Amino acid sequence: MGGSNFINEINKRRTFAIISHPDAGKTTITEKLLLLGQLIQVAGTVKGKKADRHATSDWMTMEQERGISVTSSVMQFPYKGRMVNLLDTPGHEDFSEDTYRTLTAVDSALMIVDGAKGVEERTIKLMDVCRLRDTPILSFVNKMDRDIRDPIDLLDEIEEVLKIEGAPINWPIGMGKEFKGVYNLYTDTIHVFKQGQSSVIADDIRIAGLESDEAKQLLGLYYEDFVEEIELVKGASHQFNLEDYLAGKLTPVFFGTALSNFGVREMLDGFVEWAPAPLARATDERKVEATEPEFSGFVFKIQANMDPKHRDRIAFMRICSGTYKKGMKMKHVRIGKDIKIADAVTFKAGERSAVEEAVSGDIIGLHNHGTIQIGDTFTEGEPLKYTGIPHFAPEMFRLIRLKDPLKAKALQKGLQQLSEEGSTQVFMPLNNSNLIVGAVGQLQYEVVAYRLKDEYKVSAIYEPVSVYTARWIECDDSKMLAEFKRKAGDNLAMDGGGHLTYLAPTRVNLQLMEERWPDVKFRATREH
Ligand code: G4P
Repeated sequence: MGGSNFINEINKRRTFAIISHPDAGKTTITEKLLLLGQLIQVAGTVKGKKADRHATSDWMTMEQERGISVTSSVMQFPYKGRMVNLLDTPGHEDFSEDTYRTLTAVDSALMIVDGAKGVEERTIKLMDVCRLRDTPILSFVNKMDRDIRDPIDLLDEIEEVLKIEGAPINWPIGMGKEFKGVYNLYTDTIHVFKQGQSSVIADDIRIAGLESDEAKQLLGLYYEDFVEEIELVKGASHQFNLEDYLAGKLTPVFFGTALSNFGVREMLDGFVEWAPAPLARATDERKVEATEPEFSGFVFKIQANMDPKHRDRIAFMRICSGTYKKGMKMKHVRIGKDIKIADAVTFKAGERSAVEEAVSGDIIGLHNHGTIQIGDTFTEGEPLKYTGIPHFAPEMFRLIRLKDPLKAKALQKGLQQLSEEGSTQVFMPLNNSNLIVGAVGQLQYEVVAYRLKDEYKVSAIYEPVSVYTARWIECDDSKMLAEFKRKAGDNLAMDGGGHLTYLAPTRVNLQLMEERWPDVKFRATREH
């Protein structure tokens, strides 16, 4: 692909993720988006649902069925001349790091707010993550078919709690049983809500002009009040402004109901029009423009055993510049080797297909045989390293023990492979043969035990271990590092990626060590 065609292809890309609190409707909206993108014909056919909701037992069964949040990690579909890439994120907060890293691979985000509940805690956290990079946010207030809160209050809450200006693009006419549709403030058009079209692409019934007789008829007794409300909304809310949206200062707000399949199309229309095409990205050397011809990209996620039949591990790479072509050679910058990639994959609503060609903004899946880690950069030769893809120190630690001592190798392999996914980490102490698992949430321990059994045929149990926190060790002075290793050896371990880590038994101990070794860096996050 060359010249203007190449630039055109890139400018068509819209790569985004959904941020929301569990139960706000992410899964339901995703399904309607797939319907609009014609990846599925009838909503309700995407098998399985959240792999991440509610109880652990649910997670396990879902995991087994490889529901939508697992297999459809990336969904690509064409829409109105654009190519949309939707990156799924796990809903359960124990997997939030995965979500943070996925947010580093998108150019914008869609925020879903449950109209009855307003802005909820996880959304606030994810917005904070988006703000680090000024990610543009488009908002969808969901569940208009229920009796929700006053839309004006909701808008105020978005502005106050999330510290972003809200610009309503359309405004709901009624709610719950009286929900009649939405009125577009900019085109002066009413989109009429019709029941019973939740599983197919719904008709787009429009009424032109709020002043029209049809509008008066539709609104009936509510008409005068609604006209007044619109005046108020126009006066009191922010005007949409593309520049402010792209700078992450203002969010256009749409109203609708995902379950009844209404308003999602209007939102998607706005999204493909305004959302940014692939943006330039920072490396340790320089900024890389998406339209540069030379290929480059970074890995933001690794998933083991995605397809039980294949028993493989897939590394998800965001392409940041140039074109991937089947069979091309890439430089794996961290290990300094050229590798030939013949079989990258893409995921279309759960189905794998081989990619022939992909450009900046697209996500491709590489088969990983243990040489790829989260954060790795691949280029056509330039030794660049994309920055800003964090690893966080785990907050919980457990010793893991085998029920069958003969399975030690399988246990280590399983833990190492699962820790490549980044949501748990394995630590191997330098001075003994224990294995310590670090995680950010309880659920991950259960998931690891389950998967070890299911995927690696290893039964293991956890025991408490006195580790308060982990810190990655860096020291430029090799003599001092050797000295440090000798003195602190009992608390040192290698992590799954081969990085030296200090496992502090207490907070006080960590403080003391930091004071005693001022030239050794104890890092709470690690970038590759
Ligand atoms: P999530 O992925 O963000 O966690 O949310 P999900 O789409 O699963 O939606 C959570 C619940 O909210 C589901 O109900 C879903 O049917 C419902 N829901 C989503 N959008 C709307 C909407 O526009 N209106 C109404 N009234 N409900 C909506 P559930 O009972 O928990 O699940 P299910 O048994 O219906 O699947």
